[in-house]
Amino acid sequence: MNILVTGGAGFIGSHLCERLISSGHKVVCLDNFNPYYEPGIKKKNISTILRNPNFKLIVGDIRKSFDLDTCLEGNHIDLCIHLAAMAGVRPSLENPELYNDVNIVGTLQVLDACKKYNVKKMIFASSSSVYGNKTGGAFKEKDKLNEPYSPYAETKSIGEFLCQRWHEMHNISVLCLRFFTVYGPRQRPDLAIHKFTKLIFDDKPIPFYGDGSTSRDYTYIDDTIDGVLKAMDYIQKRNCFDIFNLGESQTINLKDMISELESAIGKKAILDWQPKQEGDVDYTCANIDKSRKILGYNPTYSFKEGIRNFIDWYKSTI
Ligand SMILES: NC(=O)c1ccc[n+]([C@@H]2O[C@H](COP(=O)([O-])OP(=O)(O)OC[C@H]3O[C@@H](n4cnc5c(N)ncnc54)[C@H](O)[C@@H]3O)[C@@H](O)[C@H]2O)c1
Repeated sequence: MNILVTGGAGFIGSHLCERLISSGHKVVCLDNFNPYYEPGIKKKNISTILRNPNFKLIVGDIRKSFDLDTCLEGNHIDLCIHLAAMAGVRPSLENPELYNDVNIVGTLQVLDACKKYNVKKMIFASSSSVYGNKTGGAFKEKDKLNEPYSPYAETKSIGEFLCQRWHEMHNISVLCLRFFTVYGPRQRPDLAIHKFTKLIFDDKPIPFYGDGSTSRDYTYIDDTIDGVLKAMDYIQKRNCFDIFNLGESQTINLKDMISELESAIGKKAILDWQPKQEGDVDYTCANIDKSRKILGYNPTYSFKEGIRNFIDWYKSTI
């Protein structure tokens, strides 16, 4: 297949592009290497595939129709996997306009370009954050969504809504995949596991928010990528709109996450107690029954194993 991956130089995108190429697909990657974090990291992310003849990098912006034309003209794209976004939760509180622009206007541009070039299949990177601040059991796709807890969450809910409208109006099949805190080699440096690891290695205090009881369903990157590939197989054969959770279904609290890091690194963390952060939900946990049943999604990594892999990777970068 010929596949357009937006945001393909990022954390999840670079792993996905590698897997797609090794599975025999041709990839066009559109990424603007924005400075949300060090663009050099993104260049490194795709360094192993940059010269592969089945990989074409286009440095450009999803908000610019000219850049999307460059990706789509003459490349016979069968499927678009739309990952490009402003991805951090907390910075969205400070700059909601930018999040609206990239995550909503940009997504509209991508959907429009799919329509223009007759790309009939799309996978959209959504997020557990669309569920809002919620407790009491694992989140199901059919649950009513709570109030968005951050501008980022709101942009992802609107993104899902736009995908559904495009399916209804223009007959484009779309699967929205709700990712749950993805971690592993190349994880974004702003995310807690990566940030805390660096601070522990550097003997610096780590910010310990609230009472340590906030918990996350951490998903290992290889499991997430397996889920995206399963979603690709599924959408190939159908005209549909649907939503799937891609989580691990094992919730880990902040205290236990730090203990796991300490044991993998072999060093105690210095804790700097801080109040709970605005925009951070208390708890996430994916119910993955639907993804297991319909997509055949089957995550296998334990948190211990995933953290060990992450720390091995981290050590190889310092
Ligand atoms: N990492 C997670 O835990 C997680 C959880 C839920 C959802 N998601 C979603 O998954 C997707 C990928 O996340 P990630 O963690 O890999 O983030 P990332 O920041 O590493 O990757 C996003 C990529 O998109 C690119 N990009 C941003 N704006 C762009 C624009 N206007 N035009 C072109 N490219 C642009 C960035 O340069 C970056 O390379 C995002 O949509 C994010 O919201 C991620």
